[in-house]
Amino acid sequence: MTKTYYLTTPLYYVNAKPHIGHAYTTVAADALARFKRLMGYDVLFLTGTDEHGQKVERAALAANKTPQDFTDELSNEFRQLWAELNISYDDFIRTTEARHKKAVCETWKRLQANGQIEIQKYKGWYDATSETFMSYREMKEAKEAGGHQHIEENMEEIEEENFFFKLSAHQKWLMDYVDANPDFIQPKSRRNEAASFLEKNDLNDLCISRPKERLQWGIETPLSDKHVTYVWFDALVNYISACGFPDDEAKFKKYWPADVHLIGKDILRPHTVYWPIMLHGMGLEPPKKIFAHGWWMVDELKMSKSLGNVIRPKDVVDVYGVDPFRFFMLREVPFGQDGTYSDEAMTKRYNVDLANDLGNLTHRTLSMMEKYFDGVIIADGAKDANNLVRDKALGLAGRLEILLDQMQFSQALSEIWSLITEANRFIEHSAPWTLKKESKIDELRVVMVSCCEALRLIAQAVWPFIPHSAENLWEQLGLNKADLANTSFAEIEWNYFTKDTPVKKGQPIFPRLEL
Ligand code: MSP
Repeated sequence: MTKTYYLTTPLYYVNAKPHIGHAYTTVAADALARFKRLMGYDVLFLTGTDEHGQKVERAALAANKTPQDFTDELSNEFRQLWAELNISYDDFIRTTEARHKKAVCETWKRLQANGQIEIQKYKGWYDATSETFMSYREMKEAKEAGGHQHIEENMEEIEEENFFFKLSAHQKWLMDYVDANPDFIQPKSRRNEAASFLEKNDLNDLCISRPKERLQWGIETPLSDKHVTYVWFDALVNYISACGFPDDEAKFKKYWPADVHLIGKDILRPHTVYWPIMLHGMGLEPPKKIFAHGWWMVDELKMSKSLGNVIRPKDVVDVYGVDPFRFFMLREVPFGQDGTYSDEAMTKRYNVDLANDLGNLTHRTLSMMEKYFDGVIIADGAKDANNLVRDKALGLAGRLEILLDQMQFSQALSEIWSLITEANRFIEHSAPWTLKKESKIDELRVVMVSCCEALRLIAQAVWPFIPHSAENLWEQLGLNKADLANTSFAEIEWNYFTKDTPVKKGQPIFPRLEL
């Protein structure tokens, strides 16, 4: 039976246009999805948009549009961006879709049937910008921490009846679960953060509804027509509504629990506390892994409209191209840590890693193939090769899988690049031009076909990260584009060229950029 792999991005809020921070999770997820497909998995890669709540309602109002028109438009912007960035998602879910609403209602019903939801009168402070409640104590702490102005401007005191989810009843279960499953929350720093939050705080029951007088733009709860669902209690459910819950049992059984939820570090708590408890409360398994990555900053600052330093993916892509952008995001910063975007860093990565290392290896290999062998990769020409390039190539897929299971995108790329570096070094050391001069044709053939074998493997290895360029490289090696993704990456490690293959050298894949 084919192994399955189910991975998700967060659902992006449609209150603003996407920036490079949003693209980051999606590009990472795409690389992972493509890699797993290449390794023979049946992949379900889910992304989408989070469309309910006060922020969206207000943004729609400010734009003089109905929430539906507004969310249609913005959700489409995300879709268009993903098309531009060559994102191969299998499903795009919107929280305004019927299938999702149904799953949310079913979640509520099951939790209520299990005695997990109760109605309570609530008195406290409400922050409309973050859509969170604060108790009087939290409010006092926030003021002491210097949040005075924000509080004055955004907080309102409220009293109302709402539904509450008994988070507290499952705190012990969750602590034990996190303890017993060291890989559940990654990276380690985030796991520690979540574990220490659970140790130091008694979980309050979570208010999971909003009265309709205060918020119309939400999913009506099945327990009262006067309330809609609180954003997180709506949005998190997408991870199961998209894989068959509650009606398609076979699909649900096939994909759930998800292999990984990729998220940013700012949404750690809903994903590592609310979500596992919601699932547990319904008798469902938690996801296998939650991985929280770091933030992209600009000049050490958070991107924000008011600072005017927001970087849009399109602006970067227009200058450097889609693949260099994807490459930069995943290579520049270890996944999990914060990173800084700058054009200087982007240009340097492009010129050094892409133009020099990979670009040159491709170009010089193919040029020499044309010069010395009339452009034909000779069948079985490097079958018996005994060189460092082959040594490094063997087992590459396995090494990458270990790294990518730990979401170490940057390390995985550096592993591929060490093969590229080795191949470039090998050319220098074996000096094909001298072999030619000395008429050592057999030796020359082994050197050159070894480089072609390495390039074939490299094309597949980089495909998850830079798919267009990998396909271009693959075709320059005289291969059929469709075969790249259909050839099992792990199985044929060497001696791929078992028949004479005429190369099709084209333009350099990464022409050098001038600073
Ligand atoms: N709608 C919620 C998620 C619901 S998931 C069921 C949400 N949306 S968001 O649009 O505000 O953020 C989506 C993701 O973008 C988050 O993972 C967040 O970490 C990420 N990023 C937003 N700005 C970012 C950077 N500057 N850098 C990296 N990622 C950042 O939260």
